[in-house]
Amino acid sequence: MAHTVMMVFGTRPEAIKMAPLARVLREWPGIDLHICSTGQHREMLEQVLTAFGLTVDQDLKVMTQNQTLNGLSRDLLDKLDKAYEQVKPDIVLVHGDTTTSFIAGLAAFHRHIPIGHVEAGLRTGNLQQPWPEEANRRLTGVLADLHFAPTTKCRDNLLREGVPLEHIEVTGNTVIDALLWMRKHLEEAHWQPAADSPLAALVDGQRMVLITGHRRENFGAGFERICLALAELALRYPDVQFVYPVHLNPQVQKAVYSVLSGRDNIHLVAPQDYQHFVWLMNRAHIILTDSGGVQEEAPALGKPVLVLRKVTERPSALEGGTVKLVGTLTERIVRETSQLLDDPEAYARMARVHTPFGDGHASEHIAKRLERWFEERDTSRDDA
Ligand code: UD1
Ligand code: UDP
Repeated sequence: MAHTVMMVFGTRPEAIKMAPLARVLREWPGIDLHICSTGQHREMLEQVLTAFGLTVDQDLKVMTQNQTLNGLSRDLLDKLDKAYEQVKPDIVLVHGDTTTSFIAGLAAFHRHIPIGHVEAGLRTGNLQQPWPEEANRRLTGVLADLHFAPTTKCRDNLLREGVPLEHIEVTGNTVIDALLWMRKHLEEAHWQPAADSPLAALVDGQRMVLITGHRRENFGAGFERICLALAELALRYPDVQFVYPVHLNPQVQKAVYSVLSGRDNIHLVAPQDYQHFVWLMNRAHIILTDSGGVQEEAPALGKPVLVLRKVTERPSALEGGTVKLVGTLTERIVRETSQLLDDPEAYARMARVHTPFGDGHASEHIAKRLERWFEERDTSRDDA
């Protein structure tokens, strides 16, 4: 009899990172996959589903404008409980560190449904950074039965917290599966942005700095300092193009558009679908970001990344020398970016391909471990 695996995700990064696993599990013998989108994100999630040709079996449509963490959590808990009641999964798979991840885990735990945590074991050690993600992933880890750790460092974090070794599988990160798949697709199709895309306005041969930023702990003063740094850099380097796909969170939109609108060489654009964003990362000279996923993708493409945060849960990226933490102080961001733009040697030291997050086969590793987990569980039930 097939085992029902219920995959739950709700935001853009979860969907990008679960999409390759969904493709694998859909075809896996003995597994009946049910995909539930909580709809924590709307447009930004739709973009991912379209890019990967993925359809969900259920959409809980929880997103509201400017949602609060507690309001969102309440709606998720209520709707997920009903979804679990209806689907009766053998296991629930959640991803990473969002409110969807933790609440989907909690709702499953309350119903005695086992939980598999994909992208488990990332830690900064600081509950305030990133906020609330560090708490979400730790809390999910406490509830999970199976931990799919992307790296050995993540496994070691879990071991230190008392998770038994046999509950952990080091798999690589499925984001590399997604990235390599999309890059191949773009290359094979000789893909270019359409003529009506704002990206078609980018001038060939000019250097481009790609920016993303949305972290809650940077809201307010942090965002203001980041935007002032970008304004200063755009003035200093009129021959460099700055492209910022602005996250749809209203707090981010307000902060970014109020400081950076109306400047010739700053292109503020809507969130890009995954085809366009991978194309942008490939085209970029430097990437400035506070995103988690981009810190994993950019080194695989050999792009230097300056991380607009004080700490990272992805130390493997730092060790390769392709990713550097620069924080959110205006002066430091301007100095570090200027160095990469002015000093070819400093640039060359960071522009190297580095792949600590896997070989593009993380999804198969996860599926195999899941299959073994079902076998072990079924055997122990037969023995009982
Ligand atoms: C969420 C996650 C964060 C993740 C990020 C990825 C939490 C608490 N935060 O942050 O960990 O890194 O997603 O992008 O889980 N909005 C739209 N359309 C969309 C998406 C968002 O309009 O498609 C707006 C809505 O007004 C929404 C607001 O953004 O209320 C905030 O969305 P939310 O998911 O709560 O937080 P993010 O900042 O997106
Ligand atoms: N991304 C995208 N379009 C964009 C910006 C980012 O497709 O306009 C992708 C990016 O390649 C990465 C993921 O979204 O895979 C990161 O999502 P986000 O920054 O929203 O969240 P985080 O990784 O910080 O949780």
